[in-house]
This record gives sequence, C-alpha cells and structure tokens, in this order.
Amino acid sequence: MNQTTFAFVDGVLHAEGVSTVSLARQFGTPLYVYSRAALTQAYEAYANACAGRRASVHVAVKANSNLAVLNVFARLGAGFDIVSSGELARVLTAGGKAENVVFSGVGKSAEEMREALAAGVKCFNVESIPELDRLNAVAASMGKTAPVSLRVNPDVDPKTHPYISTGLKANKFGVAFDDARATYRAAAAMPNLHVVGIDCHIGSQITEIAPYLDAVDRLLELVEQIEADGTKIHHVDVGGGLGIQYDTETPPDIGEFVKTLLDHIDARGHGHRAVFFEPGRSVTGNAGILLTRVEFLKPGEEKNFAIVDAAMNDLARPAMYQAFHAIEPAVKRDVSAHVYDVVGPVCESGDWLGRDRQLAIEAGDLLAIRSAGAYGFVMSSNYNTRPRAAEVMVDGSHAQIVRERENVKELFAGETVLPK
Ligand SMILES: Cc1ncc(COP(=O)(O)O)c(C=O)c1O
Repeated sequence: MNQTTFAFVDGVLHAEGVSTVSLARQFGTPLYVYSRAALTQAYEAYANACAGRRASVHVAVKANSNLAVLNVFARLGAGFDIVSSGELARVLTAGGKAENVVFSGVGKSAEEMREALAAGVKCFNVESIPELDRLNAVAASMGKTAPVSLRVNPDVDPKTHPYISTGLKANKFGVAFDDARATYRAAAAMPNLHVVGIDCHIGSQITEIAPYLDAVDRLLELVEQIEADGTKIHHVDVGGGLGIQYDTETPPDIGEFVKTLLDHIDARGHGHRAVFFEPGRSVTGNAGILLTRVEFLKPGEEKNFAIVDAAMNDLARPAMYQAFHAIEPAVKRDVSAHVYDVVGPVCESGDWLGRDRQLAIEAGDLLAIRSAGAYGFVMSSNYNTRPRAAEVMVDGSHAQIVRERENVKELFAGETVLPK
C-alpha cells in the first residue's frame, strides 16, 4: 500500500496534504479519493524503466476511467489501452492521443471499429478470425488499412483468481496458441489489414514474474514462425496484470518487473522489437481509497456488523471476487475494538466490503477502504437506486471534485411511465 500518499498525521488519515475528515465533510460519503502523486509515481515507475528502450506504457482505461485520472496520465505522455469506443471518447476528451491507443476486447462492434479507425488508433488487438473479417470489411468500406495485432492465448497459469485469469485454454479470450500461426496467415492475406504486432494478457493481480516470462517465451516462439512465413512483427505487447499489495501480497516492484521482462526479450534476441505494457491495477489501485461512514453498529449472536454507507454497488470487488481490501478508521480513536463484518445497505447477503475486521469504531465514524483506485468506481452501479459516489483528486494540499455525486432524479431521467 502506498504509505506516503495516504498516511496518518496526528492520528488522522491524510490523502497527500489533505485530511480525509475534511474531504468527507466537504464532499460527503461514500467518496472516492485519488492521489495525483501516487498515480504519477506508479506511471513513472513504468516509464522510467522503459527509458532508453523502444518500450511504451498504455494505461488500461478499464481500471479507472475518470477523466481527471486519464488526464494525469496523458500529461505524463502515456498511451492507453481501451476496450470500447466509450473509453476512446474518454481518452480523447482527457487529452490522450489516438495514435498511442491500443484497442483490446473480444467483441468490438463494427461501429466501434469505424470510430477507432477514423480516430487513427495505433493498433487493434484482435481475438478471432470473425473479428479479423469484420475489421477488414470496415476498413475497406472506409478506404483504410487497419493496423492489427493478434491476442494470442499462451496457455500459461498466472496463479491468480480464476475470474481474473485470462490466458488459459478454457478462457474466452485470445486466439488459441495452436491456431495462431494460421490465423496470422489469414490476417496477412486480408487486403485492408496490416499486421504490426502480437499481444497477450494472461490475467490480473499477478504477483510473480515467472508466468510473464513463460508467456513471452511462447509469444517469441510464434513471432519467429510468423516472420518465417513472411509477416513482420514490429511490437510485442505483454498486456497488463501486474498485482498490487492489498493485504500481505508481495508483488514485484514495477521497475524490476519491467526491466526483467525487457532483459528477457533482449536476451532471446528480440531487443529490436518495440514492447508495450498495458498496466491498469498497478498504476491506479493504490492511488485511491473509498471513504465511507458508519451508519450503525449492529451486534449479533454470531457476528457483529458495521453497517456503512458504501455498498457493493460502490465497490463490487469483495462481492464479486471475495476480494480483500484493508479497512481502517480514518481517525484513530480510543474506544474498544471488536470484530465486525463491514457491510453496506444493499439488500443482498453478498453485500459486504470486509469480513472479520478488528476495528475500534463507533457509529458515525469515518472508515477508509484502501486500494480502491482500480476496478472501484468503474464497476459501480445504481443497484437499489443508489446514486453513485463522488470522486475527488488530491494534489498536494488541494482537493478537487472530479466527478459530482449522482442524484436520484438523474438515475431515472431516461425512463418513462406508460401512457394512459
Ligand atoms: C487486454 C487487457 N489489458 C490490460 C488489462 C489491465 O489489467 P490490470 O489492471 O490487471 O493491469 C486488462 C484487464 O483486464 C485487459 O483485459
């Protein structure tokens, strides 16, 4: 966890130079809080390790698509990895450049392809022959040639949660390794496609380097075969997936991870190729927290519950993946500690944010849910007609609202009752 940007000062948790108590007072709860310094630090760890090598960082927009967050990265010169034309619109609005965008995703519509081609994205990461056919047809209809890379499924086990493991044979993603060479031949024969690269993405919250090295070895083996078939591969995109510390995990340091992969690629004799990274969680995850207030403490026979004003609709990861997020009082208090399940007001037993947490709290206290900067707000919903939380960016001693809290009227503004 990033202890320098979210740290206690005189018993009060601060985001950089701003007290979380004053943030909650000013902007209400639940409230997502991001640190510009933490976003910058994580991005620069990638960028610095890439320096001096033809290697680039394409931040995965899906992890956190707030315009201000994307703008921080765009100002640092980042590229982006998108999975929809909605994300492309966000990148362009936030100051990102289409020519630094790679377009991933297993089900791109013809309209999305058209928009991305018109904008001039760097590469389409394609996942099947039908998708190649569609992209070729769309490009032909526009009189253009689409740059493509195939997402190959290297069939390596990233040793992470099954829901976020994507590079195994049983996953819906990518072209099967054994079919990849033939699929490249098919792509090379399509007149409105230009093969430029190869990519993979083996999963998320990966805490070891070894699965990446295995994946890269398999990709490079293929690259040699594809080039023997006469198709040049300019770049190797290793995807995202590097893990962060939520609890006791010990993921590799970003710089060490990048350097190890680049050295490995160089040592295999592929140092002349450009390398792309698509990090999401590792650049935004520990740059954000979710502030929530305790509504009630409810003692029970088997469990005590701390019922808070954030819920599974605000932070879905615990309900969805049984994910662990550290939870702590934003103000250290001298009251007795008890073990609580921290739960939200949504009418689902699955609506929990933390289980069996030892907390010294009282009703009305403010809690910080850590590591909420990735797959937090972006996965939030309006379930139970709950307006989504506000988002704030802290920069030094300055805090700025970067997304207003929704209100109930907005939630059903597009709905109508039946005519009489
Ligand atoms: C193709 C692709 N690239 C990059 C990412 C980012 O992954 P992470 O946030 O684990 O770094 C994802 C996440 O699912 C993805 O599907």
